[in-house]
Amino acid sequence: MEFDISKAAKSDDINDSLDYKKVSKRIISLCEKADSYLVENLIEKTRSLEVKLENLGSLALLKFDEPSTRTRLSFAIAAEKLGIKTFESSDVVSAKQKGEILKHEIETYVSMGIEVLVLRTKENNIDDYREFKDIGVVSAGFGNKSHPTQALIDISTLFSLNKINEKLTPITYIGDVKHSRVFESGRQLLNLLGFKVGVFTDKKLLPDNKNGLEIYESWDEVFESSNAIELLRVQKERLQDNEEINFDEYINNYQLTQEILGKSQSDLAVLHPMPINIGIEISKDAIEDRKIKYKDQLSHAIPSRIAAFKYVRDEI
Ligand code: CP
Repeated sequence: MEFDISKAAKSDDINDSLDYKKVSKRIISLCEKADSYLVENLIEKTRSLEVKLENLGSLALLKFDEPSTRTRLSFAIAAEKLGIKTFESSDVVSAKQKGEILKHEIETYVSMGIEVLVLRTKENNIDDYREFKDIGVVSAGFGNKSHPTQALIDISTLFSLNKINEKLTPITYIGDVKHSRVFESGRQLLNLLGFKVGVFTDKKLLPDNKNGLEIYESWDEVFESSNAIELLRVQKERLQDNEEINFDEYINNYQLTQEILGKSQSDLAVLHPMPINIGIEISKDAIEDRKIKYKDQLSHAIPSRIAAFKYVRDEI
């Protein structure tokens, strides 16, 4: 920016001083030019940079549309152990809020190199995902229909505790069986292995499909027939308006107490997928009993998610 300031330097006359209006116009014009150089540079960079997806490494998206403590964390840690970088999303922060369809959402993930989508959904919409072949989809809990990695945890725990043997129903599920995806996946897995599963609950909380089930009427029947029980919380968030539960009655009939535990065999294993509602499915005194095995289940959480990643990546 050149200006002849010699005249102004030699003179005290105001009329010889610098024309500041002209100076500021020159500065503004230079800045505008600089902005356009910068923009041209950014466009050039955007056009010339080629991001090779294979150079990004393995990427997974953990998309949880319902709360989770264990499943989300153990998938994240399992991914870390396998060298898979994870990102998180949910319907609350995604463009689904603005009307985006699932196909466009998945196309976006694939275009950015996401290989595995780990999904927890409110809805029973597992079938909506079957058409997408360019991305591996893992259920971290679909509605009330599937939670396969939790079933893997539970059945692995039963094997580790030596509770799977020739008994008709190695395990009996107690509680809100009707709305439980843990139960649905557990029964599927055990039925595949050739076992029936037991159920002991309020009639209102029985599942519609009773194939492969033995329905028990008392704690005595349960302990006679099973090596293990799995307590399930009442899924208040999934109860329909016409499915009101009388909690006093429910607690009276189905809550596991120290007294009931005292009547069970000494090697009974009590499982719970968690979260546990102390005071509803189990009493405060019973939760500390040595038969309670939720920590054994927790020890299988990361391994089951490693197995799931390996399965979806064709490594098992
Ligand atoms: N068992 C289970 O799915 O726990 P979270 O809901 O905390 O993931």
